[in-house]
Amino acid sequence: MAREPTGPISPTRAGSRHQRPRTLTASCSEPYLRPRSPLREPGERSAAGDEAASGTGPIRVAGTDSTILLTGESGVGKSLLAKVIHRASERKQKPFMQINCAAIPESLLEAELFGYESGAFTGADRKGKAGLFEQADGGTIFLDEITEIPLHLQSKLLGVIQDKAFHKIGGRGEQSVDVRIIAATNRDLGAQVTLGRFREDLYYRLNVVPVQIPPLRERREDIPLLIRYFTDHYNRRYNSYKRFSESLIEKMMSLPWKGNIRELENVIERMIVTSTASEINSLGLNCRHTALEIGESKTLVDLLQEYEDTLLMQALKEYRTTRKIAKHYGMSQPTVARKIKSLRQRRQIERP
Ligand SMILES: Nc1ncnc2c1ncn2[C@@H]1O[C@H](COP(=O)(O)OP(=O)(O)OP(=O)(O)O)[C@@H](O)[C@H]1O
Ligand SMILES: [Mg+2]
Repeated sequence: MAREPTGPISPTRAGSRHQRPRTLTASCSEPYLRPRSPLREPGERSAAGDEAASGTGPIRVAGTDSTILLTGESGVGKSLLAKVIHRASERKQKPFMQINCAAIPESLLEAELFGYESGAFTGADRKGKAGLFEQADGGTIFLDEITEIPLHLQSKLLGVIQDKAFHKIGGRGEQSVDVRIIAATNRDLGAQVTLGRFREDLYYRLNVVPVQIPPLRERREDIPLLIRYFTDHYNRRYNSYKRFSESLIEKMMSLPWKGNIRELENVIERMIVTSTASEINSLGLNCRHTALEIGESKTLVDLLQEYEDTLLMQALKEYRTTRKIAKHYGMSQPTVARKIKSLRQRRQIERP
């Protein structure tokens, strides 16, 4: 759950029932997704907000206060877009609260969303708890993986959207709230309705402005721009000056990128960290698409070394200590320490 500062408020407009809205496609033709100004975490990397605010397509609706349903495969940028829409909206000075409905156990989700009064149940905090809706008052709430909300909470959610009010757990009176809802899913919400797993009335309430973000393989023209963007970003982070050759960029445009932008970003970071040449000509073993690339003009020893380095870099990120890495890979700790020392020297990586 994240909080972000954000401005003035206007009421959420719900869509008319049974009217299937036109789906906006967040494609490359939408300037806000042009990686000339790729979307980024607030304050962290490049700012998309400025361009986003004046953009077209889905961003145009940012100012309208409508409920938005973002759909698209994992890694296409739904979570990022939710933040960008909030930042481009009039609510930007107010909180942005997000929750991944799949990550919270069902039994805790209601308390998380709606909060509880003091003494509401055994084990509850004596002071009670403000739920995300209360905390997001005036701002935006981003409900990620919306299909994972259990049916009994779906009706409560429908109530908040219709009445702009809810009951805390154990609370007597209704509490009014003014939030804009952005929901996201990488599943087919309509199909979930057909299967009886998602309320139809809630589906229509959420699906006021559907924004579908296409997978990267359907907007290949974005790939070179994203490569340049992430290259600059990771060069800055790792204090390096590497670049991808034009021929490799062209090759990367034809890869499937099943993990979408997330996968592309990870591959670029790995290449910046592990490649020794300043011009990167091949993904070698750093990328599963090209793991068996033939025509690689390196020796087997070099390729294996590259692969080992990649695995060690990943393990370092995840496990942090040589002891844990050794346990994970079934090696001795001194061997891991020696290999990492050599990797740092060869690639001139400083200790964090
Ligand atoms: N247009 C973009 N420009 C730059 N980076 C982007 C862009 N779109 C997505 N990203 C980056 O790609 C990664 C994946 O994006 P994000 O987490 O928003 O995807 P998602 O659709 O929410 O995925 P999931 O369904 O798995 O939650 C993030 O690191 C995000 O910052
Ligand atoms: Mg997400």
